[in-house]
Amino acid sequence: MLPGKLSRSSIGFSLHHPRLAFQLLTGHLSYEEVLRELISQDLQLLRNRIGSIPHWRNILELPQESIEEVLRLVIPGSQESRFGKLNRWHAFLYAITNSLRPKIVVETGVLYGHSSAAVLGALEDNGTGVLVSLDLPTMEHQSTIVDGKYIQVGLNSDRLSVGCAVPLILRSRWSLRLGNSLDLLPKILGEVGPISMFIHDSLHRYDHMMAEFHLGYNALEPRGVLVSDDIGYNSAWSDFCESNKENWKGISKYREAHDKFAFLVKSQ
Ligand SMILES: C[S@@+](CC[C@H](N)C(=O)[O-])C[C@H]1O[C@@H](n2cnc3c(N)ncnc32)[C@H](O)[C@@H]1O
Repeated sequence: MLPGKLSRSSIGFSLHHPRLAFQLLTGHLSYEEVLRELISQDLQLLRNRIGSIPHWRNILELPQESIEEVLRLVIPGSQESRFGKLNRWHAFLYAITNSLRPKIVVETGVLYGHSSAAVLGALEDNGTGVLVSLDLPTMEHQSTIVDGKYIQVGLNSDRLSVGCAVPLILRSRWSLRLGNSLDLLPKILGEVGPISMFIHDSLHRYDHMMAEFHLGYNALEPRGVLVSDDIGYNSAWSDFCESNKENWKGISKYREAHDKFAFLVKSQ
C-alpha cells in the first residue's frame, strides 16, 4: 500500500486505520512514519496477547505442537487482519528473544524491519541485549520467484529505506549494516564475539542458507539458538542439522508445507 495507489490493500488499510490513512493522504505523516506507527501498535497488541498465555516464556522448551498452539492463540488466522504487519514468525521471534534473554543477536534479512522490531521490542522488555541486522543496500533489492516461492524479496519502492518500519524508540539497541551477508558476516561475527542467537531470513538459496548457517552456528555460544525462516524452500536446514547432529523444531506458520520456520539450541 503506497500513497497514490488505490488497491484492495489500500482500501483495507483505510478501513482498519482511518486516522493513519487520513494523515498519510493529507501529508501529515510519511509512509515510513505510518509503518512505524503500525508496528508500534502491533507490538503492543502482541505484548498484551502473549502475556495472557501461560508458559509462553518457556517457549524454547515447549514441544513443537505447543509452540504452534501459543502462536495460534497470539495471532489466530481469523484475526490476522487486526495485526497490521506482524505475523506468527514475528510473534515467535518476540517470544524466543524474551525467553532467551540474549546479549547479542545477529539477523540477516531486514526488509521493512518487522522481524528487527519484534526482536528489539523483546530486548527492550528484557532491558538488555543488542541486535545487529544485515541487509542489501536498497538499490540491490529485487524480488525473485522460483517455483512459485519468493526465494528473495526486496523493498517495493526506492522511496523506502531498509528497516524503515522499526520504531525510533527501539533503535538504541540496533545496528543496521548494509551489504551482502556473506561478505559482512565474517567481519561482524569476529567483531562482536560469541553471540546468543542467529536468525537467517535473507536469500533462501541452498548455498547461501548453508553458508549463513555455518557462520552463524560457529559464532554461537553454548546453548545459543540458530533460527531460520522458510526452511521448506530446500533441504539446507535439515542437511545442516543432520551434519551437525543437532535436534531441531520446525514450526508451521500457515497451512502450506513450505511455510515453516525452525530453530535449534546448540548442544555444546
Ligand atoms: C524475507 S525479507 C526479510 C524479512 C524480515 N526478516 C521480516 O521478517 O520482516 C529478505 C531480505 O533479505 C535481503 N537479502 C537478500 N539477499 C541478501 C544478501 N545476500 N545479503 C543480505 N541480505 C539479503 C533482502 O534484501 C530482503 O530485504
